Amino acid sequence: MATRVAAATLLPVLSLLILPRTGTCADDYSAFVYAGCSQGRYDASSQYASGVDSVLTSVANSAPLAPYANFTAPTDPSLVGLYQCRSDLPASVCSGCVSSAISRLSSLCAWAAGGAVQLRACFVRYGNDSFLGKQDTTVLFKKCGGTPGDSSGVAMRDSALGALVAAAAPVAGGGYRAGGSGAVQAMSQCVGDLGAKACSDCVSAATGQLKAGCGYATAGEVYLGKCYARFWANGSGGFSSSSAGRHGFGLLVHAAAAGFFASLAYVLSLAI
Ligand SMILES: *[C@@H]1O[C@H](CO)[C@@H](O)[C@H](O)[C@H]1NC(C)=O
Ligand SMILES: *[C@@H]1O[C@H](CO)[C@@H](O)[C@H](O)[C@H]1NC(C)=O
Ligand SMILES: *[C@@H]1O[C@H](CO)[C@@H](O)[C@H](O)[C@H]1NC(C)=O
Repeated sequence: MATRVAAATLLPVLSLLILPRTGTCADDYSAFVYAGCSQGRYDASSQYASGVDSVLTSVANSAPLAPYANFTAPTDPSLVGLYQCRSDLPASVCSGCVSSAISRLSSLCAWAAGGAVQLRACFVRYGNDSFLGKQDTTVLFKKCGGTPGDSSGVAMRDSALGALVAAAAPVAGGGYRAGGSGAVQAMSQCVGDLGAKACSDCVSAATGQLKAGCGYATAGEVYLGKCYARFWANGSGGFSSSSAGRHGFGLLVHAAAAGFFASLAYVLSLAI
């Protein structure tokens, strides 16, 4: 079973926890995807603790105003927090998603020097590991599934994913991109600290992962350090569809043993 194999492979580096799924509705924008917390910790009474409070408060306050922003702790220029919402969604969705993400971080990554959480519609990360503005195409989470398709589905998928890479997306707001071909839809989202070229490169890496790793699957999603991409067949609603469970999704969890995220303990939602 794929999940068992993945867990066994990852355990030396990562601690894996299966969380109950919080919702199955296609519009559950706050549904959990993955989280990671650094092993380094800070003291509750330290200046670092007030810095974390400060950046996460700024993140929460900014979410109703913009799909992306970054903040530096007033007392520690190395401590940065940022958030990125799916920039095609309304501000109210962004703000609700970011509040949920911050609650998740507080409970999953309590006292961790760095933490990141990805929910369906938003991403929040903080830490002192100089991640701001840096490309990161590390594969953090990957899932393929749906009713098995055929080669015409694969051609539509490749074409829909190709449209994401080709899209001249606005840089502001992290460059949400959408593509479609026949019955297959696709979308991608970068974190707004990447420039246009770095965003395209990240999306290209993400779509490459989906093409190489999802076989004839009719839905897939891959989350890299600074962007993610998804595809799904029309009407299936991707993984969040209530009908999806009936088809028995395949699941693939990848984590690379390089870079900052190698030092993170992963808390991955394996609910399918
Ligand atoms: C980040 O902050 C933690 C907690 O204060 C500290 O232990 C660690 O050394 C810091 N790392 C860097 C790269 O400054
Ligand atoms: C899939 O959805 C897109 C966008 O709604 C639509 O343009 C296209 O015709 C649909 N394709 C099929 C086969 O239903
Ligand atoms: C971080 O935020 C500052 C202040 O809003 C902004 O000027 C800067 O461009 C941002 N940096 C990145 C890499 O997003």
